[in-house]
Amino acid sequence: MEFHISTIPTQQLETECLVVGIGDGGELCPAAKALDEAGGGYISAIIKAGDITGKKAETLLLQAIPGIEAKRTLLVGLGKAEERTDVQFVKIVQAAQKVISAIQCSNAAFNLGESAAKDRDCYWISRMLVETFSNGLYRFDQLKSKDSDPIKLEMVSLCVQEEDEDTACLGIAEGAAIANGMSLSRDLGNLPGNVCTPTYLAEQAQQLSAEHEIIEVEVLEEADMKALGMGSLLSVSAGSDQPAKLIVINYQGGTKGDQPHVLVGKGITFDTGGISLKSGDAMDEMKFDMCGAASVFGTISAIAEMGLDLNVVGVIAASENMPSGRATKPGDIVTTMSGQTVEILNTDAEGRLVLCDALSYVDRFNPASVVDIATLTGACIVALGNKATGLLSNNDDLASELLTAGQYANDRAWQLPLWDDYQEQLDSNFADMANIGGRPAGTITAACFLSRFTKEYRWAHLDIAGTAWNSGGKDKGSTGRCVPLLSQYLIDRTA
Ligand code: BES
Ligand code: MN
Ligand code: ZN
Repeated sequence: MEFHISTIPTQQLETECLVVGIGDGGELCPAAKALDEAGGGYISAIIKAGDITGKKAETLLLQAIPGIEAKRTLLVGLGKAEERTDVQFVKIVQAAQKVISAIQCSNAAFNLGESAAKDRDCYWISRMLVETFSNGLYRFDQLKSKDSDPIKLEMVSLCVQEEDEDTACLGIAEGAAIANGMSLSRDLGNLPGNVCTPTYLAEQAQQLSAEHEIIEVEVLEEADMKALGMGSLLSVSAGSDQPAKLIVINYQGGTKGDQPHVLVGKGITFDTGGISLKSGDAMDEMKFDMCGAASVFGTISAIAEMGLDLNVVGVIAASENMPSGRATKPGDIVTTMSGQTVEILNTDAEGRLVLCDALSYVDRFNPASVVDIATLTGACIVALGNKATGLLSNNDDLASELLTAGQYANDRAWQLPLWDDYQEQLDSNFADMANIGGRPAGTITAACFLSRFTKEYRWAHLDIAGTAWNSGGKDKGSTGRCVPLLSQYLIDRTA
């Protein structure tokens, strides 16, 4: 599937399905108006008849309008002008995409115009169209024995004014890079725990490095981690037959010596809870506990495809969390790479245990910023549901850079307080700290735990427990979320 820019007048465009917008109350957007004029009032007659009112994401498919080259025209409702938010724009594109997929055409064209999203320009509209469309076409069928029906769609054109051609081209290119990153991230997330092990993730990193000359990969084995004193990370893999891996992905798009931006991903390829075993219902979804890692993969793939001019280091803390005779037990005390000791009161709070050592490790890169991404707490789902990613940071400038990036990329986060007042919930009678802080403010106390390992640099934590995948039901699966936010954050750092 490819995206193209077209500057041909809408009524002359040869396509199997041309998408144009209708505002609330039947108002014709500029492209629809041009079609209406060429077609001798064909569209306005249909609106007058009441077949479409222009409510948001409403659709009406028309065949062969006289005077127009397109085989079909898809009218899509844009809603009221003041309600055309980013989220609404995505819903409109999704609605159009569903119709286009259902009629199985091999090409289609969009002319929604800048009025389809308020306060957004041609770059944003083109990019978001590509991201949304690609995401809608995403399938995960590699583990089904029969291939699903192939996607017939080969090309989607975006119609723009001539003076917007370059901006739209950039939007398409960056949208495709981010969409490809999301697709990689979703694939890794959707793969089951028996395929996607820490070793598999390490191989995927090598693969990424093989695809991009600018990426180098180093994989630390358990013996290396032991030598570094990573007693906390290794306490999580202790019960597993799969060896833990610390995967370092180095993207050197910037000048040598420029401080890198570091992304640290939680890569628990399956979280049983360990000896503090989880209950059985929906435990299969704990294969998604490596989605933080997957978002690091997806983001690095996206920035490599965009060729961003900066240095980025991705670090993946990969392990399984399993019960066994060798597993860590509640009450066990371990020593982290930082020298601080941790009383493990609950082996199911394992994400912070692998992240803390990875966060100590990345200090050696003299980072410009460190962002960790993790499916860390069920409490984050209680607080924010599946709409917003939780954000906590030791630096308000960094927090606001990430919030702004998420807003622009339609992959939003919401900040929670990281006040010192919460730290006492981690007090332990027997070690420097406990690994859990009780039921209240579970997302915050998890971040408090991490903050004890990130004092040397600007750091933010993204809790994607609610946003990384859709639970249960028909659309169960990984979302690729945080790839758009992180990609945007890095795009903004190059400006
Ligand atoms: N991976 C889970 C968090 C999680 C749970 C994400 C459900 C998405 C859905 C994490 O390792 C975990 O088990 N956290 C515990 C922490 C608790 C023991 C302090 C949790 O949230 O229950
Ligand atoms: Mn857990
Ligand atoms: Zn977990």
